[in-house]
Amino acid sequence: RAGSSFVVVANRLPVDRVENPDGSIRWRRSPGGLVTALEPVMRANKGAWIGWAGAPGTAPEPFDEAGMHLVSVPLSAEEVEDYYEGFSNATLWPLYHDVIAPPVYRRDWWDAYVRVNHRFADAAARVAARGAVVWVHDYQLQLVPEMLRALRPDLRIGFFLHIPFPPVELFARLPWRQQVLRGLLGADLVGFQRPGAASNFLRLTRRLLGYQTQRDQIFLPDGRVVRARSFPISIDVGELEEIARRPETERRAWEIREEIGAPSKILLGIDRLDYTKGIAERIHAFAELLNEGLLTPDEATFIQVATPSRERVEQYQLLRDEVELAVGRVNGTHGRIGRPAVTYLHHSHERTELAALYRAADVMVVTPLRDGMNLVAKEYIACRYDHTGVLILSEFAGAADEFRQALLVNPYDVDGLKQTMLQALRMEPREATRKMRAMRRHLVEHDVDRWASSFLTALSGEPGR
Ligand code: G6P
Repeated sequence: RAGSSFVVVANRLPVDRVENPDGSIRWRRSPGGLVTALEPVMRANKGAWIGWAGAPGTAPEPFDEAGMHLVSVPLSAEEVEDYYEGFSNATLWPLYHDVIAPPVYRRDWWDAYVRVNHRFADAAARVAARGAVVWVHDYQLQLVPEMLRALRPDLRIGFFLHIPFPPVELFARLPWRQQVLRGLLGADLVGFQRPGAASNFLRLTRRLLGYQTQRDQIFLPDGRVVRARSFPISIDVGELEEIARRPETERRAWEIREEIGAPSKILLGIDRLDYTKGIAERIHAFAELLNEGLLTPDEATFIQVATPSRERVEQYQLLRDEVELAVGRVNGTHGRIGRPAVTYLHHSHERTELAALYRAADVMVVTPLRDGMNLVAKEYIACRYDHTGVLILSEFAGAADEFRQALLVNPYDVDGLKQTMLQALRMEPREATRKMRAMRRHLVEHDVDRWASSFLTALSGEPGR
């Protein structure tokens, strides 16, 4: 097989494992903005995607799916613990999200991170054609750009970080801070969600490595120039809106509203069950509104979808207990038979069901304590094609840069959160429509295709070497 001239490297492959009735295994393309956005580029360039298939011991042979060549990188059970659950999700994830949970620094986790990053870099070096463009994604693979450049200096390498990049004072705590910075600087272009993250990175290369920078450029001692800029990611707006407009989706949304019981208004949260999302904080705020009689359970009800995530990591287990305690308390006090105050769903849902929920919700509550972008906010806006609905959005989500018409809140401020929920529930329909219209106008013009093409244009159009 001749090499690919476009290669994506990400921790996960864009496929889900499906078991056939006869017990055999099949891989189905997973829904997701990133893979949809890259599909045309993939098809045009015999594209390859390198990633982990998602469970230890399941490493399919390379195969083709939806116009892509998929190459799976195997991880042993121990590597899943040390590289994925450990260094990626118990060291980097909390450190990069403002230390909401305390990061754990372990040398054996770091060793596994280096080893696994090497494996991804080797795989990319093998499939990339001469002069190919290689796009590396996210915090799990920050060493890959440097490793890959050492193996294949002919490649053009881009890196995009999907999560926040922390300020100097926090990043400096990382015992391997220089290695991570040098890893990223192996790329020609380093992309971030927000301009502030790009400036954190530029400042760090000056402070910790002593490099000169000018605007978005970093000058390396070997003469290379690396660029660092923001490219706010988005979603496939058209695809989701199409699902939202289907009659069966509207029917399902109506059914949800019926089950909840009119005239109650619905507040909705949809998140991975993650401590960065502010789930417990928002339930506490809603509970206080009920406790204080500022809201009655007949006026408003809360639906919280919390998709299971990283369940073997301790902080996620603690969070689950905290959220479930909070939900149990509020329902014990304010629920009635068949009418919980908060409906809590701890499982994942099909996209069609999510679209129906977005259609059913009067108020979308997106209040992460810190978030690189937050695509749920964008998904809600995409589904509100009739310009109804109110979005409450945390100031600490990247999406807040784009949606100034949302009701912006500080999720740490319980009183502010309560006031904003009341304001959202009581907003005049005309005002809600004016705001939603403005947000949709922006979203429709900034979908995921535009994000991918602006990154790739910046990557191929600049003299980085
Ligand atoms: C965030 C990260 C992704 C990650 C996703 C799900 O969005 O930026 O890299 O894939 O969470 O987390 P998981 O650990 O299940 O891959």
